[in-house]
Amino acid sequence: MRKELTKVVHHEQIADKIYELTFEGEMVAEMVDPGQFLHIRIGDQYMPLLRRPISICDVDLERKQCTILYRAEGEGTHLLSQKRKGDRLDVLGPLGKGFPLDTIDEGETALLIGGGIGVPPLYYLSKKLVERNVRVIHVLGFGSKKDAFYVDAFEQLGTTAVTTIDGTLGYQGFVTDYIKQKGPAYDVLYSCGPTPMLKAIEEQLNPDRAYFSLEERMGCGIGACFACVCSVKDDPSGHEYRKICSDGPVFPQGVIQL
Ligand SMILES: Cc1cc2nc3c(=O)[nH]c(=O)nc-3n(C[C@H](O)[C@H](O)[C@H](O)COP(=O)(O)OP(=O)(O)OC[C@H]3O[C@@H](n4cnc5c(N)ncnc54)[C@H](O)[C@@H]3O)c2cc1C
Ligand code: FES
Repeated sequence: MRKELTKVVHHEQIADKIYELTFEGEMVAEMVDPGQFLHIRIGDQYMPLLRRPISICDVDLERKQCTILYRAEGEGTHLLSQKRKGDRLDVLGPLGKGFPLDTIDEGETALLIGGGIGVPPLYYLSKKLVERNVRVIHVLGFGSKKDAFYVDAFEQLGTTAVTTIDGTLGYQGFVTDYIKQKGPAYDVLYSCGPTPMLKAIEEQLNPDRAYFSLEERMGCGIGACFACVCSVKDDPSGHEYRKICSDGPVFPQGVIQL
């Protein structure tokens, strides 16, 4: 982990409110684990005070470039969308524990399920799995066609299905509806998206082997402030917790109370 003033080398809008930003820096050499995140200081002044957590979406180790995708939603991400090519970007990372790659063997099948802005970290994960000769199936859920992104990129790596709630692209419904209906066979499930989606996957699909990447509001991003704690599942004491930023954001199924 390091803090660095990186350089923006590419920045464009790729869907409704969704931006793709690539920066260059020495820290990229450390980004070898998919599912880790970066803590980005947006403003040059005091506000916004807190860094914003954004997942690593893709890494080019040779060029020392990292790509992130984000949705311009609140104050911080709107300010981020104003960065131009050549601007400096203050990045802390890579942070957290990502998706374990050694839990799936060569020749096995991985089912990757992404929801909305939870889709980005699955792209780097999928690339890493394909490198290990794992077969990948992607199911990507969006609200509507205008919100969808990176569908072609995922198709280059493996079988890809898209679901939208309004039916404007792909299958109409939730990712869980699609999987229950089509029933793709898989060995390990990996998912990132809104907590209700992860909860539905856990309850409705009941996978044997699964890893979930969780989102929580963050302060420090490095395990020091307790802003991101979550309750542990089936904890009789009610006092056990995990920090999403440093124990996660990726956890095996059944560890965190969704
Ligand atoms: C591990 C992790 C990875 C993430 N990866 C991505 C990604 O790749 N792309 C993307 O668009 N978004 C991602 N998010 C969510 C993103 O961090 C928030 O949407 C963003 O912080 C909102 O900032 P804002 O200033 O635009 O919104 P505001 O609502 O103005 O933010 C106010 C405060 O709330 C915090 N906050 C708000 N929503 C969240 C949230 N969901 N999670 C954590 N903190 C939040 C902000 O950090 C800030 O401190 C990720 C979150 C986590 C925890
Ligand atoms: S954000 Fe500070 S402990 Fe997790």
